[in-house]
This record gives sequence, structure tokens and C-alpha cells, in this order.
Amino acid sequence: MQYRKFGSLDWDVSALGFGAMRLPILDDDSSKINEPLATEMIRYAIDHGVNYVDTAYPYHQEQSERFVGKVLKDGYREKVRLATKMPCWLVKEEADFDRFLDEQMKRLDVNFIDFYLLHSLNAKSWQKMQDLGVFDWAEKRMVEGMFGHLAFSFHDDYPVFESIVNGYDNWTFAQIQYNFIDVNYQAGKKGLNLAADRGLAVVVMEPLRGGMIAKNPPPKPVAEIWEKGERDWTPAGWAFNWLWDQPEVSTILSGMNTMADVEENIRLASEAEVGKLTEQDRELVAEAREAYASLAPIPCTQCEYCLPCPSGVAIPTIFEIYNDAVSFDAWGHGRWAYNNNIKVEARADNCIECGECEAVCPQQIEIIDWLAKVHEELAQPVK
Ligand SMILES: NC(=O)c1ccc[n+]([C@@H]2O[C@H](COP(=O)([O-])OP(=O)(O)OC[C@H]3O[C@@H](n4cnc5c(N)ncnc54)[C@H](OP(=O)(O)O)[C@@H]3O)[C@@H](O)[C@H]2O)c1
Repeated sequence: MQYRKFGSLDWDVSALGFGAMRLPILDDDSSKINEPLATEMIRYAIDHGVNYVDTAYPYHQEQSERFVGKVLKDGYREKVRLATKMPCWLVKEEADFDRFLDEQMKRLDVNFIDFYLLHSLNAKSWQKMQDLGVFDWAEKRMVEGMFGHLAFSFHDDYPVFESIVNGYDNWTFAQIQYNFIDVNYQAGKKGLNLAADRGLAVVVMEPLRGGMIAKNPPPKPVAEIWEKGERDWTPAGWAFNWLWDQPEVSTILSGMNTMADVEENIRLASEAEVGKLTEQDRELVAEAREAYASLAPIPCTQCEYCLPCPSGVAIPTIFEIYNDAVSFDAWGHGRWAYNNNIKVEARADNCIECGECEAVCPQQIEIIDWLAKVHEELAQPVK
């Protein structure tokens, strides 16, 4: 295992961290963790040098923290730094800060959490957390020794990321979605650099875009690009090595759900290095990014000229979900996102074909036809 500097802390983090959000499950039910297998996987990872474990209140339908607490018995708690997260979207009043922290400590069965994150901050929750006085509260609890450091995870656009990073002087790290596809998405490369410039560690989540860019075999145009390279790397190897090449990345969390994933990722992390990629490697990764983008059937650039739709259809978001489903051959994920993340009143079947959107679309997309097609393909139940 390779270790890397963790922001301004006098501690080195393993290049790979264990994310406890996609553990192996039973009966296709995410609340039923396959405990014997998941225990073996997490302990194997720790025995092979992983020293960072990440969980959160909602993972596995609120079973992840309880399970992680059990796995870290028998001396494993002392070998890792443990991170969990306050579910900011559930916080309604100041008293909820203590209510959640107490409940999480009970679930984890610990009397100290190393890293406590404000989970999934966005413009709205960031404002709410400040209004409720989260920093005064957190500083008191840190002095009392309940947790060691305050951090945040993030899902919104770059300007919000900038205001969060600049909005508090004592963040220890930021956790961002970052992979070779998402360089200009959410915090992106710009956010990575900003956080590192401010002395924050950066914990990367979704390094394989939830597994989408590690599919074997990858789509043909992407497979051909990897084959052109002189590296004997799997798609996961390309994705991880591209991240570790960047000194601003502190550690990569992967949500591993098989023992084979754990073994491969540990092997890769044992050879992780800043500066490992050649210029030719970096060009190939850029080509692969373009190849994935070229697979997207709808040339939507998310400019939002089509909004607001008079019928309230979430046109750009729906097109993004559809493009991802096609490009990454991820229909299960696409249908899940369409049925769960898009409100019924914002789905494509609310289109009344008024054509206001088509009149202003700079890409001249046939939006009405696409909305009908997308609804037909995505509204189906997730298999
Ligand atoms: N704070 C937040 O808002 C937030 C949001 C998302 C994630 N997270 C944290 O970040 C962690 C990492 O994110 P993630 O789970 O999305 O990570 P990821 O590494 O992008 O995706 C994990 C998936 O990748 C696949 N995979 C892993 N290793 C592989 C390998 N060597 N070869 C092929 N496929 C491989 C597996 O998918 P298959 O099932 O296809 O095998 C696995 O389920 C999470 O577990 C969680 O702890 C936090």
C-alpha cells in the first residue's frame, strides 16, 4: 500500500480507502448486507494497509454504520481512521446536530469518530447549516473529544464549492465526486485544485463513476483507445492511476462489492504514484473521455436555454440521465435515476408539445421527439 499526505494533518492516508456504501448484499435488498463476505473484504483491506473507512447515516438503508461498527471490533478500529457524515437534509433544528451524532456513535458503537462530514452539501443545505450554527456546535464537540475533524462532502456546482471552501477556516478535507469523466462536473478539477491550494486534503468518491467506467469490456470505441496504450491496465486501473497521478488527490474511496474488486484495487494502490502517467497516457485518457461523450445520443450541452418549460419538464436533467444510460450501457441506473430523482410532474410525459424549447435550443435538438422516446425507455420499472 502506498500512503499520501492528508492535507495539513500529520498523518498519511492509504491511497485507497474503503467506502461502505456498496457492500455485497443478500436477496437484492440493500438493507441486507452480506455480513460474512463484507467483513472478510473490509478486514482483508485493512490487513493490507487500508487505513481509512467511510460510511454515512443513510447507506444501506441505515445499516452501514451499524455494520461498520461490528467489523471494526477485534482491534480493527485502532488500525483505521473512521469517517461518517451528518445527514444535512434531515437536519431541521440545532438540536438535531447532537441527536444525529449521538445516534451515529451508538450505531457505530464508538466513543470517538475521526472525521465527521457534513454530508452532500449543496447551496440549500450549506445555507441551512450555517444558519443553524454548525461551526460553533462542531467546535464544541471537537473540544469535548467526540470527533476529531470537520469536513464535508459535496454535490453541487463549482461556485457553491468555492463558497463552502472559503466559508470556514478549519475544514480538514473536502470529499468530491471526481473521475476522468467528471473533470468539469460539480467541483471538478477546478475544485480539486482550489481545495488543495487552501491546504485541504481531498477525498475522491465515485472514482469509477459508480462502476460505469470500469465495465469489462468497455464500449468498443473506448476499448480501442485503451488497447492503443502500452499499459496492461484494466479499465479500473486506468481510472485509478489517472487519479493517483495527481498530487492534489489524497485518497480514493471505492465502493467495492466483491473480493476480486478489493484484491485488484489493493494491488493497484500498492503501485499508486504521483507522476506515473506519461503524456501519452494522459492523452489516451482524454481520448477515452471524448469517446464516452461521443456515445451520448442527444447533443445537449446543459445550457438550460429550454428552461423554464411551461409544463415543468426537467428537460436537461432528463437528457443527461438518458445520455449516461446509453453511453455507459447503464440502463438499470438510468431507470432508477429517472423514476427516483425526477418528480412525476417533471417527467417527460408532461410535455404538451408546445415547442417553446425547440425554438430556443442552440443545438437545434428535436426535444419533443426525444422526450417521448426517453420516457418510453426510462419510465420502465428497474429490472
Ligand atoms: N458523500 C457522498 O455524497 C457520497 C456519494 C457517493 C459515494 N460516496 C462514498 O464514496 C465511496 C465510493 O464511491 P462509489 O461507491 O461510487 O465508488 P466507485 O469506485 O466509483 O464505484 C463502485 C463500484 O465500482 C465497481 N468496482 C470497484 N472496483 C472495481 C474494479 N477493480 N473493477 C471493476 N469494477 C469495480 C463496483 O461495481 P459493480 O457493482 O459493477 O461491480 C462497485 O460497486 C462510496 O462507497 C461511499 O462511501 C459518498
